[in-house]
Amino acid sequence: MDTKKKSSFSGSIGFVLSAAGSAVGVGNIWRFPYLAAKDGGGLFLIIYLLLVLTFGFTLLTTDVAIGRKTKQNALKAFGVINRKWKFLGYLTFLVPALIMTYYSVIGGWVTKYIVTYLTARGADAARDGYFTAFITSKVSPIFFMLAFLAATAFIVYRGVEKGIEKFSKIIMPGLIFMIVGIALFSLTLKYTDADGVIRTGLQGLGVYIIPNLDGITGKRFLEILLDAMSQLFFSLSVSMGIMITYGSYVKKDVDLNRSLSQIEFFDTGVAFLAGMMIIPAVFVFSGTEGMASGPSLMFVSLPKVFDAMGRAGSLIGLVFFIMVAFAALTSCISIMETLVANCMELFHTSRQKMSLIIGLIFAGAAAVICMGYNLLYFELPLPNGQTAQLLDLMDYISNSFLMPFISLLTCIFVGWVIGPSWIDEEMELNGTVFKRKKMYAFMIRYVTPVMMTVLFLQSAGIFTV
Ligand code: PHE
Repeated sequence: MDTKKKSSFSGSIGFVLSAAGSAVGVGNIWRFPYLAAKDGGGLFLIIYLLLVLTFGFTLLTTDVAIGRKTKQNALKAFGVINRKWKFLGYLTFLVPALIMTYYSVIGGWVTKYIVTYLTARGADAARDGYFTAFITSKVSPIFFMLAFLAATAFIVYRGVEKGIEKFSKIIMPGLIFMIVGIALFSLTLKYTDADGVIRTGLQGLGVYIIPNLDGITGKRFLEILLDAMSQLFFSLSVSMGIMITYGSYVKKDVDLNRSLSQIEFFDTGVAFLAGMMIIPAVFVFSGTEGMASGPSLMFVSLPKVFDAMGRAGSLIGLVFFIMVAFAALTSCISIMETLVANCMELFHTSRQKMSLIIGLIFAGAAAVICMGYNLLYFELPLPNGQTAQLLDLMDYISNSFLMPFISLLTCIFVGWVIGPSWIDEEMELNGTVFKRKKMYAFMIRYVTPVMMTVLFLQSAGIFTV
């Protein structure tokens, strides 16, 4: 049964919003702001922006063009182009399978916080130990993960145009609206702390966007560069077959140049606004120490900030977590769609059946990940010097290890085996001009492979900055 030909986005807007839906997720709202706070504010922003326009653009273009040109999912796409490279499709397929196991768990955590704020218990979420007590409990995280996963599976079950595209067209504009609203609100905040120091949202904005060059050595600069690079992968959902799958749903008359620029803009814009929403608020209520909270920022520090805002805080908290849940949902949909679409082809089954099967399999796998915080708890030292429990381990294998490796192979494949002109042809279909053609060729052949090698070696602990 040839199911893939029937699926497609209705047009350019459907594609852009669905792909942006995949790209915009917890990575933008949670990870980007804490990296920016840790890595010198404006300095990180400048580096990130330069990378988006060069390196991010190269990887995104490659994925989408491969998808549209071959009209295949990742699993088959590489093999169709060159039989010797079939293995790369299978390797790529591993990434969404790994990410799916834990992304739905995080989606469940966000859903739990919505319920907490809905039932007007925002003050609870601000209590010390609330988050840890929740994730280490046995039933609740599994319950919320299942709710989140069921919503994801339902939309994938409905199909590309009626499910993914329709949902993204409603959610993505709403998301922008909410994020701009909270970001502007954040700038109006003002707080006098116990020592009588007054801090304002505008000062917080300064902390966010003014480059902080204190203690920036060559080594530190490289560290920031690598942070920005790995963030970019995750954020643009590249090198994991997702954008290949979405690319295969794009009709031939869509101008890829324009659509890809719009996706980059959307993803980077939301990340920037998320920082503008979070960093000034955290700065106002907890000074610079609050900003150093790292990954616990979203579930631990922010609820305290909402609590300190007084009554408006509960509402803002609610809107915030609804927004994160939507962002996470459209991302999780793209991961599941990739798994479903590939397996539909592999096993020649219908979308409906495959959505159910994949939903059930990953419900089981995600439940195991939830247990990583209680029954299956361990602390594993990683080659890159960090320690991990189960969820972190999945994240490490997929993002830090597999993604740079797959990217490296993809760059070698496109840059040196089939040649960048293979991609140019797709970008120039219908007479459109591939404006960044020269840069693309240079990036895919030389710069990106070197960067990927460095990133990979660093993750593997072979090289430390
Ligand atoms: N890009 C998404 C984010 O930034 C995450 C994601 C990762 C989505 C992998 C799909 C696949 O949160």
